[in-house]
Amino acid sequence: MKVYSLIPLVFLLVGRTVADQDNERRASPDPSLSTSVTINGQTFVNKGLVAFGYIPADAKDQYGETFGGIGSAITFKRGTFNSNRDGTFSGKLIVQPDRGYNVEAPIDWQTRQHVVKFTLKPYYGVANLPFSEAAKTLKLDYVSTTLYTFNGKPTSGDDPEFVDTVSGIKYPVVASNYTRLTTDTEGLVSNKDGTFWMSDEYGPYVYLLSSNGKVIQTIVPPEAVLPRINGTLNFTSASDPQSGRCANQGMEALTASPSGDKLYGLLQSALAQEGSCKKKTNKYARFFKWNVENRNRVKLEAEYVVPLPQSSKPETYAQSEIYWLNKNQFLVLARDGNGQGGSDPKSAYKAADIFDISSATNIANTDYDLPTGSIAPGGQLLANITPATYVPFVQYVNDTQLARFGLHNGAPADQGLINAKWESLALAPVGDREYPNDYFLFTFADNDFQTHNGVSMGQPYNATVSADNQALVYRVTLPSVKRGSVEEAIGI
Ligand SMILES: *[C@@H]1O[C@H](CO)[C@@H](O)[C@H](O)[C@H]1NC(C)=O
Ligand SMILES: *[C@@H]1O[C@H](CO)[C@@H](O)[C@H](O)[C@H]1NC(C)=O
Ligand SMILES: *[C@@H]1O[C@H](CO)[C@@H](O)[C@H](O)[C@H]1NC(C)=O
Ligand SMILES: *[C@@H]1O[C@H](CO)[C@@H](O)[C@H](O)[C@H]1NC(C)=O
Ligand SMILES: *[C@@H]1O[C@H](CO)[C@@H](O)[C@H](O)[C@H]1NC(C)=O
Repeated sequence: MKVYSLIPLVFLLVGRTVADQDNERRASPDPSLSTSVTINGQTFVNKGLVAFGYIPADAKDQYGETFGGIGSAITFKRGTFNSNRDGTFSGKLIVQPDRGYNVEAPIDWQTRQHVVKFTLKPYYGVANLPFSEAAKTLKLDYVSTTLYTFNGKPTSGDDPEFVDTVSGIKYPVVASNYTRLTTDTEGLVSNKDGTFWMSDEYGPYVYLLSSNGKVIQTIVPPEAVLPRINGTLNFTSASDPQSGRCANQGMEALTASPSGDKLYGLLQSALAQEGSCKKKTNKYARFFKWNVENRNRVKLEAEYVVPLPQSSKPETYAQSEIYWLNKNQFLVLARDGNGQGGSDPKSAYKAADIFDISSATNIANTDYDLPTGSIAPGGQLLANITPATYVPFVQYVNDTQLARFGLHNGAPADQGLINAKWESLALAPVGDREYPNDYFLFTFADNDFQTHNGVSMGQPYNATVSADNQALVYRVTLPSVKRGSVEEAIGI
């Protein structure tokens, strides 16, 4: 090659980013970035982190309120996911914060959902990108907000110190205004008809929302799950009950089959009568399957036990989200509470794992579902109950993967420190003919509305830390997912 022909080439290379140059050479992740696990003879591959993005901690929504907590739940806005000719992907996500800026105390904040649009430009190389360049791999922009209502009144996120009966159902309501429903919103599923299923931690109930945010139906889980203090229903999150879901350990996770006929919910950790609300003993979480084909006759069809992972201490890594893979297998996001916005910057476990219920015992509609019914007295699972099998899969806490995107685990607590609370999952097809079982796994964090420049219920606030609304995308091979089912689930 003559020297002069190199000059325009060098010029061209300088004008482009490291990510551009690397992606030109490969259409899929570098093989050195992959790790795999085998479940029932099938190989599931984590091909690594492929994108990172964030919305700044001090962003506001259309009502002037701090845009935070959004990773409590995410779901693709149906029909919007698109694979573009230039190798990028775009679409819209519906994101759902929990109960507002509650770092000091729960507040009377109207629960809501937002639409966020994104452009994904996967980065498949091994070189470490600087933070600013990495953050361009998933561009996120706020679009709009829908507020939630119940019985014509705004919902609240405040602590439900009162109980009110509406059409025979006992609801958690705010003290300040007796008939106002309060929800600590956590799970979200979008239905074909434009409605949503939303799960909450207080009840812990599952609500059907109209497309404009009106609560139109309620699913009450079995009696064993309902929180009781001295034998009386009490939905407070200020203290743990003696039986039922523990404080802030409600119906964290929600998913549905692609057709929408079956709805699944998983509690964050064990019930009070099973794990005593202690990290050492609360690993056996109940998992529910409802038949919602006929919404007027919702039926609890099955119930299983999921053994959550534990540290060597041992302390349970409670779970924050699930996602349907097939009728027996689900992704599950289990984690500690360390990272940006948490008390310790160094995290040990945040992972999208897999559980399989094919050989698990169905305990639905048995005595275990009655008030105070227990499948694990003192935290020991009864011998006659076979739990789901649990397999670790995509570990977010991986220095090699994080460094490729200018991110890290542990001190310093700068903008590159990963958030503490990852709480959502969503899948979309990669559409690579060579790897037809490859999917993008989107996951967002709940930053607890922590910003130095916040507005909550019209009042300014300054939290001690600032945590952006972070989002990650992995590429994974899921051989047990039937072709077309992920597409059906997101309406494409
Ligand atoms: C971290 O990712 C690398 C690939 O980039 C992999 O080789 C390694 O096993 C992973 N470590 C853990 C703990 O998952
Ligand atoms: C629930 O328990 C709290 C104390 O933890 C108490 O203040 C409240 O009055 C109780 N609510 C009901 C409805 O009994
Ligand atoms: C309670 O409800 C009344 C009537 O619906 C309303 O005027 C009042 O502002 C509400 N108070 C609070 C604290 O939400
Ligand atoms: C439950 O009973 C105990 C003992 O009688 C009492 O001290 C406590 O205040 C009661 N709690 C509630 C919420 O009623
Ligand atoms: C918020 O507090 C931080 C220290 O915690 C301080 O550096 C910052 O200037 C404060 N911001 C505002 C807007 O008051």
